Amino acid sequence: MIPRIRTLAPRDKTAVMTILRKSEQFELFELDVAEEVINDYLRDPINSSYHVAVAEMESNIEGYVCYGPTPLTKGTWDIYWIAVTPKSRKQGIGKQLMSYTEYNVEKAGGRLIIVETSSKSSYDDTNNFYRDLGYEEICRIPDFYAPKDDKIMYQKKITAKTSS
Ligand SMILES: CC(C)(COP(=O)(O)OP(=O)(O)OC[C@H]1O[C@@H](n2cnc3c(N)ncnc32)[C@H](O)[C@@H]1OP(=O)(O)O)[C@@H](O)C(=O)NCCC(=O)NCCS
Repeated sequence: MIPRIRTLAPRDKTAVMTILRKSEQFELFELDVAEEVINDYLRDPINSSYHVAVAEMESNIEGYVCYGPTPLTKGTWDIYWIAVTPKSRKQGIGKQLMSYTEYNVEKAGGRLIIVETSSKSSYDDTNNFYRDLGYEEICRIPDFYAPKDDKIMYQKKITAKTSS
């Protein structure tokens, strides 16, 4: 079944926080930051520096993505968060959220998307996911998050073709 991707509404917040809580990848302090960002978006979706979208299937929220233009750049965008509820992973929902994001970044005049993630083994699926979608590793900072936990940065250049 193909999810419907649409912008976040206030009624979705509880479901998104549940997805984040169930994702074993995230630490507690990261959930607080994710919630602050969601609140910022919901306060004023038009003028927020974030864009937040959810994947809905049969009235259930199965995933979400948060992205936005990178401050002080021309045409560079960051994907800050993406998560799919653990039981619904590996069904293509994450890819749909990424296509939606790339399409909207391209529509807004974006030319480059950056994502950052961890090198910990609990992020193996995440790293494979980005590489499969054509994200290229451009930078790795050893021991960034913690000893033996590198920060990996990926980039994807966006053109009308990549985001269609
Ligand atoms: C990263 C994440 C969002 C991917 O979401 P997802 O819905 O599982 O992604 P998809 O289903 O589109 O693709 C995942 C894999 O499933 C495979 N897949 C997709 N549809 C499939 C299907 N019907 N049957 C079997 N496999 C399938 C894809 O080929 C892909 O393979 P890969 O592991 O080689 O990349 C998800 O794993 C997640 O929430 N991780 C935890 C949070 C996280 O790390 N977020 C990023 C940092 S902020």
